[in-house]
Amino acid sequence: MVSLKIDGRETQAEPGTTVLEAARSLGISIPTLCHHEGLPPYGACRICVVEVSAGGRIRIESSCTRPVEEGIEVWTDTEKIRGYRTLIAELLLARCPDSERVQEVARDVGVTETRFEKKEEECILCGLCVRACQDAMGTSAISFVNRGYARKVDTPFSINSETCAGCGACAKVCPTGAIQIEDVNGKRIIRYFHTELELEQCPECGARFVSKKFQEKTDADQKASEELRHLCPDCRRKRASRSLREHMVY
Ligand code: SF4
Ligand code: FES
Repeated sequence: MVSLKIDGRETQAEPGTTVLEAARSLGISIPTLCHHEGLPPYGACRICVVEVSAGGRIRIESSCTRPVEEGIEVWTDTEKIRGYRTLIAELLLARCPDSERVQEVARDVGVTETRFEKKEEECILCGLCVRACQDAMGTSAISFVNRGYARKVDTPFSINSETCAGCGACAKVCPTGAIQIEDVNGKRIIRYFHTELELEQCPECGARFVSKKFQEKTDADQKASEELRHLCPDCRRKRASRSLREHMVY
């Protein structure tokens, strides 16, 4: 276990735990926006910043990406941190003034208005959609593109994605509502990512309920795990690596 101090309280945490997790386990509240418990941390929004004293230096770091470390001391609610969070909340509010989630996070840190020019952007570049697609669904249909002001999340070449299965995970995690899924006339449309997919139809009632591509992917995954179910862990590994080799494209 790793020993550290948070807001003056001694605590211990498993190695690999983040400062955010360690603080929350003590009941200390830290605001977050780009953090999702089921996805790897990314550190995009910086609203979760804390002060960390390590190796004789005090730094401002995002608590969702900072792993605990033996002997460090963390402060989650100093004047400096409150000022930093206020600035971040105002910048987020200026970028996406209509996002309810952004407004809520801003309110949590005492911000209801912004002194910056409002931009009416749809996306705060939190990267949740990219991580949901890549890490939760294993698809990588979208990614960050461009730099600076032109940075955004998009499909390759900004056209209909060949790999998107229309699962909707990106829309589910998006805090601003930028990504919307529309099921219209037998098609699943994800305008934000220029993508349209055919929907599967229920043979009983005719309802369209899931994209054909996602159904095929789920069926294939189920078949694969069914085939492996009766094998011992060793043979399962061998079979999986054999099938990986067979499916590799050179
Ligand atoms: S589209 Fe939504 S989830 Fe994706 S980066 Fe932008 S705000 Fe985050
Ligand atoms: S929640 Fe930690 S950087 Fe966004």
